[in-house]
Amino acid sequence: MYRTNTCGELRLQHVGRQVTLAGWVQRSRKMGGMTFIDLRDRYGITQLVFNEETDAPLCEQANRLGREYVIQVTGTVAERFSKNSKLPTGDIEILVSQLLVLNASEVPPFTIEEHTDGGDDLRMKYRYLDLRRPGVRANLELRHRFCLAVRHFLDSKGFLEIETPVLVGSTPEGARDFIVPSRMNKGQFYALPQSPQTLKQLLMVAGMDRYFQIVKCFRDEDLRADRQPEFTQIDCEMSFVRQEDILALFEEMTKHLFREVRGYDLGEAPFLRLSWHEAMRRFGSDKPDMRFGMEFVELMDTLQGTGTFPVFNEASYIGGICAPGCAGYTRKQLDELTNFVKSPQIGAKGLVYARVGEDGSVKSSVDKFYTPEVLAALRAKMNAAPGDLILILSGPDAMRTRKQLCELRLLMGERLGLRDKDRFALLWVVDFPMFEWSDEEQRLMAMHHPFTSPKPSDIPKLDTDPANVLADAYDMVCNGVEVGGGSIRIHDAALQAKIFQVLGFTPERAREQFGFLMNAFRYGAPPHGGLAYGLDRWVSLFAGLDSIRDCIAFPKNNSGRDVMLDAPSRVDPAQLDELALDLRPVD
Ligand code: AMO
Repeated sequence: MYRTNTCGELRLQHVGRQVTLAGWVQRSRKMGGMTFIDLRDRYGITQLVFNEETDAPLCEQANRLGREYVIQVTGTVAERFSKNSKLPTGDIEILVSQLLVLNASEVPPFTIEEHTDGGDDLRMKYRYLDLRRPGVRANLELRHRFCLAVRHFLDSKGFLEIETPVLVGSTPEGARDFIVPSRMNKGQFYALPQSPQTLKQLLMVAGMDRYFQIVKCFRDEDLRADRQPEFTQIDCEMSFVRQEDILALFEEMTKHLFREVRGYDLGEAPFLRLSWHEAMRRFGSDKPDMRFGMEFVELMDTLQGTGTFPVFNEASYIGGICAPGCAGYTRKQLDELTNFVKSPQIGAKGLVYARVGEDGSVKSSVDKFYTPEVLAALRAKMNAAPGDLILILSGPDAMRTRKQLCELRLLMGERLGLRDKDRFALLWVVDFPMFEWSDEEQRLMAMHHPFTSPKPSDIPKLDTDPANVLADAYDMVCNGVEVGGGSIRIHDAALQAKIFQVLGFTPERAREQFGFLMNAFRYGAPPHGGLAYGLDRWVSLFAGLDSIRDCIAFPKNNSGRDVMLDAPSRVDPAQLDELALDLRPVD
């Protein structure tokens, strides 16, 4: 036996017992004739003691151990004189009688402790060392527990876990595909699935009734804190259901996961629901953070045409938020906010503010354009209290301005401490538009994906007014993060063909790309629908992380690189030859 116990296991009740432990040297301290070593494994840290007086050669051997050496020790469990209440094993130590070095280690490039001195790039390059740190390991443990709870729950509801292939054709989810050349079919390519969307629909045609899979998805898109090029979905599909059935089941699952995995009670009340239009109007986002209010107030009536400020008079939208208790913001703080909204990633032209004094008076950055009566009306419209700061954005494009105001709202929420990571606010956003206009492509694009069902009452509008057709599609949002999304699907070949047509596919191209699905629909497709959760996003919310990278064992960096494996990389010319591929020179 390599070990009798783990490094996280021993307590006072084990005092006197002879034990063997194995693990990594976290730290060693020499104090007088004693050497103390913290021995670490996945389960914890146990203090080892070597005493020069009782065994000088052994102590000498211990003094030569470096950080991250892998060792095995045998000794007796003893009660500590000075206990460490911060460690679960802090009441005991091991008086070591035998020491075996299982493997030496070079000095690691950063300290393997909770507050490491390693920067992001270095830790990613040596991710296997980074993963030895307790915090990162705890995230993977949480992820494991999350997946177990998901499997138990879905199994209890009759779902079957079915694997789908990774080498497939294109599955449109709005991103670019990663493609894989085929050696046996030269000049042809597989695409990695952006999601198993069409396959899970085919499983419904196959009569599987309830499917799920914890599955890798691949999307070649610009990366952000909550996006990875390969990420994991909890992908689900159900037959003979309506939207309400799906929302009810996944709401139950979410409450279950919060209770079981996070120890957090979401209560009995159903989740809040907002239509997409309402979410955009009130919060400028299809994933509003509902942990705090600061709703938008539309100010067109109050500020357009009621004064001489040209910017407002020419705007298509004027909206404000009210930041409680911020009227005392200094010039510098206001400049910071202005610079924030004018930064290239937000792109607003400027910020107008109005302070509400303790006496109720209003002092704004546009005072010279408005009468005191208009400013009083502004205050009333905003329902602002003494001490509040009103922040106003305007612009020629209402949707764009709302999105900018959304960013400002989130920033103010952050500043006011309203986005506490230990509180959770969930909602469903429903009634998404079926299509959105793409300037780049100059055509309507599916807002969700092309297999989403329009609301039955809106089907006649597909010919006359497609831009205003609503879909039976829904997203689940938690703390401003889209944690899942899904829809009722089209199960009728003719309607599916119609949607492809609205999306600008010729019948030939639709057949070429999705013929398999439309064929399947000719053989008795049941009504069906489903949803996919973003597993990485859930785990990072549960763990209070800023980036989903921290709950992924081997993530990619912001340029989509795995810096540890140094991938992507060039391949051998012989490999290209075998695939009949020629490369154009790249810089
Ligand atoms: P959707 O594209 O909304 O829907 O994806 C479902 C959920 O997956 C997560 N997600 C991501 N997580 C990390 N990195 C990414 N790049 C990334 N992209 C998406 C989000 C999102 O809510 N087939 C449909 C689902 C369905 O209709 O059933 C789909 O993939 O949390």
